This record gives sequence, structure tokens and C-alpha cells, in this order.
Amino acid sequence: MIPVREELTLALPIVIRRAVAQDLPLLEWYGRYAKYRRVFWRTFQQQQRGERLMLLAVCNGFPIGQVFVFFHNGERPEHGARAYMYSLRVMDMFRGQGIGTALIHSAERHAREQGCVVMSLGVAKTNQRARALYERLGYTVYGEDSGEWMYVDQHGKRRKVTEPSWVLEKTLFMG
Ligand SMILES: CC(C)(COP(=O)(O)OP(=O)(O)OC[C@H]1O[C@@H](n2cnc3c(N)ncnc32)[C@H](O)[C@@H]1OP(=O)(O)O)[C@@H](O)C(=O)NCCC(=O)NCCS
Repeated sequence: MIPVREELTLALPIVIRRAVAQDLPLLEWYGRYAKYRRVFWRTFQQQQRGERLMLLAVCNGFPIGQVFVFFHNGERPEHGARAYMYSLRVMDMFRGQGIGTALIHSAERHAREQGCVVMSLGVAKTNQRARALYERLGYTVYGEDSGEWMYVDQHGKRRKVTEPSWVLEKTLFMG
């Protein structure tokens, strides 16, 4: 058989922006995250009320990366508003090119604009590489969490997740 190998180098523009309703089915990534269909819709409604933010990295109209942010007052509101970042993910074939870092920086900028002084997040104890990324970006471990949460999947079934996690945070200095 004649070997076939041809190369094509593409420059693909990636846009980071807030999710719109049309993005929601695409966030399921062809079925892989269909189980989060209701979570996506609920988060989108919370975004419409200004309580959360769904930031997407979009390539040719398709969301290839995402991070969600939850704004809250924390247990000590006198210490200032806080933000919590979660569901950071980038499609496998786009990893290692700075998209995750760009999403985190964008989430931090938005949190600062909302007046938040601290960004926190949880990372599974088994996810050493993601923890390394957060630490490189200035996050430090300040606690741990059982990582238990529930969601209702696309079939209406309640699903329980248990993912023991480190809790990290970073002070968002005002520029
Ligand atoms: C973590 C993740 C969002 C990073 O996105 P990215 O675009 O690859 O990030 P960047 O290119 O800006 O940075 C690369 C760094 O991400 C981390 N990373 C890369 N691949 C990873 C993977 N499969 N899982 C976890 N972290 C990974 C590493 O620290 C890597 O640095 P290294 O190559 O020097 O080890 C992406 O890898 C991912 O979606 N992983 C699976 C989901 C996940 O672990 N999310 C974090 C939950 S807290």
C-alpha cells in the first residue's frame, strides 16, 4: 500500500465570549455531556439573572472550551464578594495550546469587573495536571472538600457525584 501523509497547518481563531442560548446543545459535545443538559440550561438561566457566567472558547462557531463562574458574597460578606470557577474543560485535541489558561484569565477579569476580590475553585485530588496549571497561575490550596454534588441527567434521573477535591483560591488584585 502506498503510504499517505499530507500536512496542512491551520491558523484557527478562538473567540472567548459569554454563552448564548444557541450554544447550549453544542455544549453537549456530540453526546459526551448530554448528561449535563439540564445543568447547562439552569446555569444559562442563572447567567441571564447575573448570578453566574458561562464563558466559552469558540472555534468556527463551536464551543471547544468552557468555564463557568458563580458569584457570591461568601461566609464573611464584609471581606468582599467572591467568585467560584468550575466546569473548566477544553476538547482533547485543542489542549496544551493555552486555551484553558485564556479561559481562566477571562474568568478572573470578569470576576474583578463584578467587584470580586477572591476567585476559588475545586480540583479533584486525582487531577494533578489541572492542579499544576492552577498553581502556575497563582492559585494556592487552602482546604479540601468531599466534592459531593447531585444533578439530574437528560432522562430525569438523579445522579450523585463524589470527587474528593482540593480547594484553591487566588486574590484578585484590582488593576
Ligand atoms: C485542564 C484543561 C482545561 C487545561 O486546558 P488546556 O487548554 O490544555 O490548558 P493550557 O494549554 O492553558 O495549559 C496546559 C496545562 O493544562 C494541564 N493539562 C493538560 N492536559 C490536561 C488534562 N488532560 N487534564 C488535566 N490537566 C491537563 C497541564 O497542567 C498542562 O500543562 P503541562 O502540559 O505543562 O502539563 C484541559 O486539559 C481539560 O479540559 N482537562 C480535562 C478536564 C479537567 O481536568 N478540567 C479541570 C477540572 S478542575
